[in-house]
Amino acid sequence: MTLPRIGIVISSTRENRFGEKVAQWVHSIAAQRSDLAFELVDLRDYPLPFFDGKSPASFPVTNEIALRWGSKMAELDGYLFVTAEYNRSITGVLKNALDWAYHQYGRKPAAYVGYGSVGGARAVEQLRLINVELKMAPLRSGVHIGGGDFRALLKQDKTFQDMPQLAHSATAMLDELSWWTFALKAARDAETMPAA
Ligand SMILES: Cc1cc2nc3c(=O)[nH]c(=O)nc-3n(C[C@H](O)[C@H](O)[C@H](O)COP(=O)(O)O)c2cc1C
Repeated sequence: MTLPRIGIVISSTRENRFGEKVAQWVHSIAAQRSDLAFELVDLRDYPLPFFDGKSPASFPVTNEIALRWGSKMAELDGYLFVTAEYNRSITGVLKNALDWAYHQYGRKPAAYVGYGSVGGARAVEQLRLINVELKMAPLRSGVHIGGGDFRALLKQDKTFQDMPQLAHSATAMLDELSWWTFALKAARDAETMPAA
């Protein structure tokens, strides 16, 4: 059986971003599972211009990078957003990328790992709302790397191995993501199946 595929989206593209380390950490935990296949989706590989066209909900996009982004979003069965918090919201580059597609995201689950002074909680809450508009199914569970943990990891005083509680919440989040991925995939597949 082909495993359902989850894209771990790195939401920051800046030099020396912390998000890459977070994404690699959660990927290393996710890769141990036998129920889902995970891959990193790096927004650096999709250098999209600022969205200035017609809504992809109603009109096809023609920009080549956007077509590539849309194909990647379409081939995935769910998304795990590794979410930085910029000015109490998500990064501009992630919002811009999300704006470039629409139908590809529909009826697929979205999970979150946030980081920042309050664990990226404000950004993740905003991202949940954006994801609802894109017809995703946002999960309740999330991993939040905040406070002293965030500062210690950022300054490299500590590593993720020093923080088993984060791996514990990642596992709980991934279990919930698995349930929703299979439930929604079965429902999408049933819809596209020809009538008996
Ligand atoms: C433009 C900007 C705005 C920021 N705003 C917030 C914020 O609102 N809340 C927060 O906790 N951290 C904020 N930070 C600090 C980030 O949490 C920290 O820089 C983190 O490393 C950003 O993720 P990145 O390194 O993956 O880009 C901000 C950083 C930048 C560059």
